[in-house]
Amino acid sequence: MSEVKWEEIFETAKNWTREAGEFIKEKMSESFDVSTKANENDLVTDVDKGVEEFFKSKISTHYTNHRLLGEEGSYKAIKDLSGVVWIIDPIDGTVNFVHQQTFFAISVGVYIEGEGMIGIIYDVMNGEMFSALKGEGAFLNGTKLDKLKEVPLQESILSFNAGWILKDRRLEELVKACRATRSYGSAALDIAYVASGRLDGYISFILAPWDIAAGMVILKEVGGVASRYNGDALDFLESGTFMAATPSIYNEFLELVKK
Ligand code: IPD
Ligand code: CA
Ligand code: CA
Ligand code: CA
Repeated sequence: MSEVKWEEIFETAKNWTREAGEFIKEKMSESFDVSTKANENDLVTDVDKGVEEFFKSKISTHYTNHRLLGEEGSYKAIKDLSGVVWIIDPIDGTVNFVHQQTFFAISVGVYIEGEGMIGIIYDVMNGEMFSALKGEGAFLNGTKLDKLKEVPLQESILSFNAGWILKDRRLEELVKACRATRSYGSAALDIAYVASGRLDGYISFILAPWDIAAGMVILKEVGGVASRYNGDALDFLESGTFMAATPSIYNEFLELVKK
C-alpha cells in the first residue's frame, strides 16, 4: 500500500462526519422508518442505514483501497483487519435517537493492520466532536484534551447500564464506593466522556467493534486504559465485554473482577 496520508484522511473524515450529522438533522425533520433487529429493543432506522451508505460511497470513491466495517451490514464483508479499515457506527445510541432525539453519536475509527490511527465521535445534537489522530493528542471541538488524572474511587463518576448489576452483583460494590453513577445509552459517547474526564470509568457487558473503535484511539491519546471485563486485550473483529477508565479507576475495576 502506498504511503497513507493520515493528516489528510483525518481532516476528510471529520468533514464527512459533520456532513453526515447534517444529513441526520435533515432526516429528523421528516418521518423515518424504525424497525427491529435481534430483539424488540434493538432498533434501527433508515437514517442509520443512510449514514452508513453515505460513508460507503465516500470511502469507495475517494479511497479505493480502503474497506468499511459498519454496523448496518458492511461488517459482513470484513473477515480480517488487513490494510486500512474504517470501523463505523453510523448512529451510536439509536434508542436515544428514536425516543429522545438527542444524545447519539456518529463513531468513526480508521485502522491500519488492526492499529487505530483516527478516532472521531460526533455528538450531533450537542455539536461536540471528540477526535484524535494517533500520536497527536485528542481534541474536543479542536481544543486539546488534558491527560487523564488519578481519581480516587470515592470521588469517581462511573457509567454502566443498571441492567449489568443484575448480571454481576459485584458491581454493587462500585455503586456504593463511587461518588455517582450514570447511564447515557451511547457507548461511543461514554468512552469519549471518559477520555475528556467527564466520567472516570465505563463498563459494558456487550459491545461490538464499531462501538469502541473510535473511542479507543481517543482514549489512548489521553492515557486512558481499556480491556475486556476480565482484563484480556480488546479485538476489533469480535463483540465482547468492555471496561475503560482513567488508570487509577481501571485498577479498581481489575481488583473487582479478580475477586
Ligand atoms: C448501543 C449503544 C448502547 C450500548 C449498546 C449498543 P447502537 O449501540 O452504544 O449504549 O449499551 O450495547 O449496542 O445499537 O445504538 O448503535
Ligand atoms: Ca444497533
Ligand atoms: Ca453502537
Ligand atoms: Ca448503531
